[in-house]
Amino acid sequence: MSSRKKIGLVGAGNIGGELANLIVQKQLGDVVLYDIPPKENFAKGKALDLEQSQAVNGSDVRVTGTSNWADLAGADVLIITAGIPRKPGQSRDDLVETNLPIIRDVADNAAKHCPDAFAIVISNPLDAMVYELRRRTNKPRAQVVGMAGVLDSSRFALFLSRELQVSIKDIRAMVLGGHGDDMVPVLSNCTVNGIPIRQLMAKDKLAAIVDRTRKGGGEIVGLMGTSAYYAPAASAVAMAESYLLDQRRVLPCAAYLDGEYGYKDLYMGVPVVIGAEGVEQIIQIELDAEEKAMLAKSADSVQKVVDLVKKKS
Ligand SMILES: NC(=O)c1ccc[n+]([C@@H]2O[C@H](COP(=O)([O-])OP(=O)(O)OC[C@H]3O[C@@H](n4cnc5c(N)ncnc54)[C@H](O)[C@@H]3O)[C@@H](O)[C@H]2O)c1
Repeated sequence: MSSRKKIGLVGAGNIGGELANLIVQKQLGDVVLYDIPPKENFAKGKALDLEQSQAVNGSDVRVTGTSNWADLAGADVLIITAGIPRKPGQSRDDLVETNLPIIRDVADNAAKHCPDAFAIVISNPLDAMVYELRRRTNKPRAQVVGMAGVLDSSRFALFLSRELQVSIKDIRAMVLGGHGDDMVPVLSNCTVNGIPIRQLMAKDKLAAIVDRTRKGGGEIVGLMGTSAYYAPAASAVAMAESYLLDQRRVLPCAAYLDGEYGYKDLYMGVPVVIGAEGVEQIIQIELDAEEKAMLAKSADSVQKVVDLVKKKS
C-alpha cells in the first residue's frame, strides 16, 4: 500500500476534475475521484486522462475513478463537490431541494467509510450544506470546514489589484460571513502590504468592488451558464494543503461557531488556522460597527437556510 496521503474527491464534475488536476500537479497525494454509479465511467475516464499527464508533469501520484465508496476508505482528506451547480437566475439557496439529499447521502457514506478524514465541503448552499454534513456525520468541528471565504477573498483581492494596478501578492483582503450576496468583505482589515485600503481608494470605487465581489459567483454563472470551477478548486486545494502539510495558514473558511463572534450552532466564514489537527483555532478579529451589522445580516440569511434544512429532517 502507498504511504502517500489519500485524497477523496466526492463529485467528479467541473470542480472535482480541476481539484484532481491541481492535486496531481502539486503531488499532494493519491487521488480517488468518486461519482455516482451512472457516472462511474466518467470518473474513471477523467482519472485516466489525468494519469496520462503524469509523464509530462513528472508526477508520481495515482488517480483512480470509482463509484464505490469502499475505495475511499482511509482517505486523509475528503473534498465534497457532490450536487448540482447554479444556473443563470438561480440563487445558491435555490439548490437546497436537490443538494440536501445528496449531502445526506455523502455524509452517511463519509461517516461509514472515512471517519477520520478532514472534510472540506464545497457544495452549495455552502454554509447550510457544511452544517448538515457535520450534523449528520457527528464529526468533531475541527474536522469539517466549508470552502467559500478563500474564493470570495481571492475575487476581492483580484478586483482591488486590477483597480489599483498593483501586484495581487501585496493585497491582504478577507471576506467573512455566509457564502451569499450579503457576505462581508472586511474593509477595516484590508491593506496593500499594510497600507489601509481606504487610504488608497475612493469610497465609491471601493463600494463598487465590494458589490462586484458579492456578486462574483453570479457574474460567472451569467457568463458560462454554470458556476466557476478553477478558482473554487484552487481555493479548496489551499485549505487541503494547509492541513496535509501542517502549514497553519490563516484562511477565511466556513467553521462551526460555538459562541465565537456571538454566534452558536452555525457555520459561517471566519478566519481560521488550518493545521494538522484541522481547524486549530478560530481567530476573532475586531470588526467595526458597520461590519458587525453586515455580519449579523449574513448570519441571519445563513440561519434561515439552516432552519429550512432542519425542517426537512
Ligand atoms: N463553495 C463555493 O464557493 C462554490 C463555488 C462554486 C461552486 N460551488 C458548488 O459546488 C458544487 C459542484 O459544482 P460543479 O461545478 O463541480 O458541479 P458539476 O455538476 O460539474 O459536478 C457535480 C458532480 O456531483 C455528482 N454527484 C451528484 N450526486 C452525487 C452523490 N450523491 N455523490 C457523489 N457525487 C454526486 C454529479 O454526478 C456531478 O458529477 C455545486 O453545488 C456548486 O454550486 C460552490
